[in-house]
Amino acid sequence: MSLEIAANADGRLVCPFDHHSREYAEGHREMFEDLRKAGPVVWSDAYGGFWIATDYVHVREVLKDSETFTVETIDGAREGGTLIPAPRGAAFLAPDTTLFNFFDGQRHDTARAALNPHFSRRRVAELAPLIKATVDRVLDRVLKQGEFDIVYDLAAPITAGIVNDHMGFGLEDPAPFFRAVFSLKRADEAMSGAGNDPVVTTYKEGWAYLGEVVRARRTEPRDDVISALAQAKDGTFTDDEIQGMCMNVIFGAADTTAAFTAHTLTFLADRPDQQAELRADPSKIPAFIREGLRYFNVAMGVARTARRDVDLGGTKIRKGDRIFALIPSANLDPALYDNPGEFDMARPASQHLGFGGGIHSCLGASLAQAIVAADIRGVLERVEAYSIDPENLVRNSDLSFISLFLKAPMRINGMQNRRAAAR
Ligand code: HEM
Repeated sequence: MSLEIAANADGRLVCPFDHHSREYAEGHREMFEDLRKAGPVVWSDAYGGFWIATDYVHVREVLKDSETFTVETIDGAREGGTLIPAPRGAAFLAPDTTLFNFFDGQRHDTARAALNPHFSRRRVAELAPLIKATVDRVLDRVLKQGEFDIVYDLAAPITAGIVNDHMGFGLEDPAPFFRAVFSLKRADEAMSGAGNDPVVTTYKEGWAYLGEVVRARRTEPRDDVISALAQAKDGTFTDDEIQGMCMNVIFGAADTTAAFTAHTLTFLADRPDQQAELRADPSKIPAFIREGLRYFNVAMGVARTARRDVDLGGTKIRKGDRIFALIPSANLDPALYDNPGEFDMARPASQHLGFGGGIHSCLGASLAQAIVAADIRGVLERVEAYSIDPENLVRNSDLSFISLFLKAPMRINGMQNRRAAAR
């Protein structure tokens, strides 16, 4: 599916780009090529009109320059935030919107400064026993079944379990809550704030529950992130702010990590050569994951709003204009990567923008990579052979924001002899 792109009377490159359409879900890789060839910054009339940053250099510039390209809703702009169009009623998500990803500047930076040490590479290395124990526990359960869903039975419960323990949410079974929060992020109707949707109710109950946890940790701290935030010097954070940080973590972690695991395991099912390479040398898994972040593109793009008139790639952007940073197109840009459409775990792909860039780059980047590495390692160590019937895979039909698997059943065709595997 190719895009028709033409210059209009005022010289802007215009195309009928609709990132919510089925055509886009089916043909986006070709569209990226057309867009990059047309220019680094192209205009779409959809959803009230927005710019698209199409190549690596300009997507990175939009992400990095948060003083110019903001996540906030500025005076005079049609809408703000990281989605185009902005979800209706998003403001109800948290009282006074305490989710820090809706802010640039101090409000955001204070939250990140408090959270970053708990998600640093070093801290994540210390979490290795928790990660391994959680993966083993979930694998023990699902491998008995012979067939299970990679997202809902394996990867999502693993991520939810690890984040629940690390943050100190204290939920007995965190997976349903994580799932409900994520559904809220996707369901436009739930975003209307009507308040009757069961998902909204779950969110509100979860918000109240997190408030209780924060208050409990203020008086009786434990060894977890909520306690550290609740005990911060001078009572830096209000209960609402800590609840907002918790929701930010759940929103960030909930389905992205599980979707990425599903991308990697479905790919490996189809590519015995790559699977054999990882089985022979599991130390290649981190490089496989880095290339996977470049190639699979779970994060399909984020929006910003121009705070001032600015030149981007030779195009005049006006204050208040919306801009869509097309992350997967950047990651597949031939100006940066040779044969970008080929998966090559030997390529140095560390510059990928799969976790964004700049001040809003992913808080959980190290954790996500460690979890997915443990998922892959766990499956390859314990399963001798598995298969995934492509006919049974269901992808989300709207790829405007995240590339997910709604259904990804894995069939176990042979288990490893564990004693032999351990040798
Ligand atoms: C493979 C899995 C993941 C992918 C692909 C991913 C991707 C991203 C991307 C692209 C952004 C930037 C959004 C923007 O610029 O507007 C982001 C932000 C964020 N991510 Fe992740 N993420 C993943 C896993 C996680 C995990 C496990 C956590 C849990 C800690 C997490 C927490 C966050 C948070 C809190 C933000 C907002 C950061 C801010 O605004 O300062 N993510 N993620």
